[in-house]
Amino acid sequence: MNRRFLPVDRLRGNYTPPADKSISHRAALFGAMSADPVRISNYLDSHDTAATLAAVLALGAAVDEHGPGDMTIRGVGLRTPAAVTNGTLDVQNSGTLLRLLPGWLAGQPGGEWTLTGDESIQRRPVDRVVEPLRAMGAGLTARDERFPPLHVVGAELRAIDYTLPVASAQVKSCVLIAGMLAVGQTSVTEPEQSRDHTERILCRARVPFERDGLTSRVSEVDELELYDLHVPGDPSSAAFIAAAASIVPDARVVIQGMGLNWTRTGFFRILERMGAVVIAELEKRPEVIPSHEPIGEVDVAQAPLVATTVEADEVPLAIDELPLVALLGAFAEGDTVVRGAQELRVKETDRIAAVVEGLGGLGVDIEATDDGFVVHGGTGVEGGSIDARGDHRMAMLGAVAGIASQTGVEVRGMEAAAVSYPGFEADLKALIA
Ligand code: S3P
Repeated sequence: MNRRFLPVDRLRGNYTPPADKSISHRAALFGAMSADPVRISNYLDSHDTAATLAAVLALGAAVDEHGPGDMTIRGVGLRTPAAVTNGTLDVQNSGTLLRLLPGWLAGQPGGEWTLTGDESIQRRPVDRVVEPLRAMGAGLTARDERFPPLHVVGAELRAIDYTLPVASAQVKSCVLIAGMLAVGQTSVTEPEQSRDHTERILCRARVPFERDGLTSRVSEVDELELYDLHVPGDPSSAAFIAAAASIVPDARVVIQGMGLNWTRTGFFRILERMGAVVIAELEKRPEVIPSHEPIGEVDVAQAPLVATTVEADEVPLAIDELPLVALLGAFAEGDTVVRGAQELRVKETDRIAAVVEGLGGLGVDIEATDDGFVVHGGTGVEGGSIDARGDHRMAMLGAVAGIASQTGVEVRGMEAAAVSYPGFEADLKALIA
């Protein structure tokens, strides 16, 4: 599906982003791992999170829907191999499901599953979860030792101390989930802080959990004590509208009901540094990991932008929003640099290549580096055509580039947006009208 986004001269109003994708995946998985029913409110309606619901149903959980986004998951408990059927699980396009679910399955002795998905998922590395889960005692095999299909043979797990080679909330979460099933205390150390939604749910579910600097520790537990979870609005989805509000002339958007968790709002701090007007009380790094997700309002208004440099320690806190930093860089005076972001090469597509070729084709002066990109700013976006490459965030990037361009942008493959944000075009239209 191709869509043309023409330049606009108005973007104003109040806006509520869709529910958080990361937290929705975790809500469904932790709901399935609970023996008691878990009430979930504001669960994201998208392709990715539908794949997670389908997976937990296939694993024996029941889902009672009460209304849009409102459901009760009746799970099978943390250790119930009898209720869990063996077989193939289709994660579709979801990297998060692909990396988190094996943590649970690995700790089910007698169980055996194969995880596979769409064409893009076949190129997403899984060696990063194979290595720690094997060290814990589970049997895992992957195509070429690295890619799906991923075969998991459950076992009695033993605790490990694991240091992640790259910051990844998905891998950290996988090991923490397996840690709940392993004999002893499991620790995971990350090189940089990544999103901490799993840790917050562990605290909420009264799992023995500690955090010390960049190390998380979890101990074996019999049952989760989890009864309800509310999913805030997704800062990664809101980021597209916030970016648009920073570059469309005279724009101003008030984002409501957005998750303010400090491990997810790196992009909003970058936006502010670049000169956009951002009025918000973003969460500050808390001393102790809380058992809830803060929610609030963020007011964004257009202003002249200046270039910035995003360094490695900031990357995991804005990982999914870095394509938008490239777009903002085109409107900023000076050179905008992103470093230490080689992880972008293994997202839904190689997002360094996709962003550089995609925005380059729209007249932006941008170059790729091994671990990021450099944008020579001040030109804005001329216009043209961009291929989403089946990547939801590339599709939405093209749309935002289009409404702030000189001549309009055609996005090829706009349907990809539904992976995380089915209502994107409608929400954008409402703010333009
Ligand atoms: C996610 C973590 C990030 C992010 C992805 C969702 C999560 O991936 O890019 O969209 O829900 O934990 P990595 O952990 O691989 O960096």
